[in-house]
Amino acid sequence: MKNLTFILILLTANLFGQKFQDLAKTPPMGWNSWNHFECNDVNEQVIKDMADAMVSSGMKDVGYEYIIIDDCWQIGRTADGKIMVDSIKFPNGMKSLSDYIHSKGLKFGIYSDAGTHTCAGRPGSKDHEKQDAESYADWNVDYLKYDWCNTQGQDPIESYTIMRDAIYLAGRPIVFSICDWGYSQPWEWAGEVGHLWRTTLDITDHWDGTRWGNQLGWTNILEKQVGLEKYAGPGHWNDPDMLEVGNPGLTINEARAHFTMWCMLAAPLITGNDLKNMSNDIRDILINKELIAIDQNPLGKQGFKIVDEGNFEIWQKQLSDGAIAICLLNLEIKDKDYTISWSTMNIKDFSGNYKIKNLWENKMIENTDKEVSVRVPARDVLIFMLTKSSM
Ligand code: GLA
Repeated sequence: MKNLTFILILLTANLFGQKFQDLAKTPPMGWNSWNHFECNDVNEQVIKDMADAMVSSGMKDVGYEYIIIDDCWQIGRTADGKIMVDSIKFPNGMKSLSDYIHSKGLKFGIYSDAGTHTCAGRPGSKDHEKQDAESYADWNVDYLKYDWCNTQGQDPIESYTIMRDAIYLAGRPIVFSICDWGYSQPWEWAGEVGHLWRTTLDITDHWDGTRWGNQLGWTNILEKQVGLEKYAGPGHWNDPDMLEVGNPGLTINEARAHFTMWCMLAAPLITGNDLKNMSNDIRDILINKELIAIDQNPLGKQGFKIVDEGNFEIWQKQLSDGAIAICLLNLEIKDKDYTISWSTMNIKDFSGNYKIKNLWENKMIENTDKEVSVRVPARDVLIFMLTKSSM
């Protein structure tokens, strides 16, 4: 009898409480409104324009799929507690916008907050989790980013689990993106609750430094990923925040370095620029298939740092079929000359027998029998793909 009760408890726990499995087997790819449009400039037309641009730019063809509305789409609640959409900014409502996005072959994402209010002061989901999850299911939402503002006294594991279970009960598979800025060390507990979790405070479109007291340049965020590699894998990713590629504070080489390092980290590739008005140089960074293949490699291993000389770093990412990506990152504002000795690259079964491709320059170089001397441009990267010669 005792055993039966235990089995029943297990069964009901699975019926009512789990994240949707089989989602985000590789890091999610898409676009989110926050980094460029923030609160005031997001509206229905912008979202439609971004969906159109994701298709016409070729981004959809290389794997970007989620169009995610961040904060500021909500305006209040009805008398019976239902979340209300800002009808001035989104005159046709969320279902119609979701239909539009789906008609383009893309997926639809939305944002809320575990507390009483979102970070921009809109209604949060606290005590309305079930109702909100039902609204999202009605609107055919595919992705939810769930923030952590105005949560005084709340326990993160409990709050995020309540929303996970509400989503599950509502019945529509939704990628659940946890955003507590790494405060509760979500990498230690969130694998059972969400598909990705933010590891730091907000990114800003700067190379380094702190802005507004709590926003970080992307290289500062990069350093905070060291040691987190063991927590990432298919269906559960560290999220070093959305991309700033294409936003005005980064030059082209800085943006290329940022994108490359996010691919090395197996980070979610959620772009945050104005896709309708991006330059060809920026588009070419975002749609580089070989870089994206490193991010999306099915092995799902996050890259890690193997050399740290202060302003010069080397990172490595293990890929399927024994392939390896090696990335040299120059953090200085002058070029860096470096001689790569492949045998010291922390490659487990190193046999000197890899073919090497310089990915951004799109050319094959010597194999790993020989040392290679390279110049890494200022604030830029060189990334090499090493594949077994027999392949
Ligand atoms: C927080 C999040 C950001 C963004 C804003 C919206 O700061 O970390 O990514 O969602 O809230 O208000």
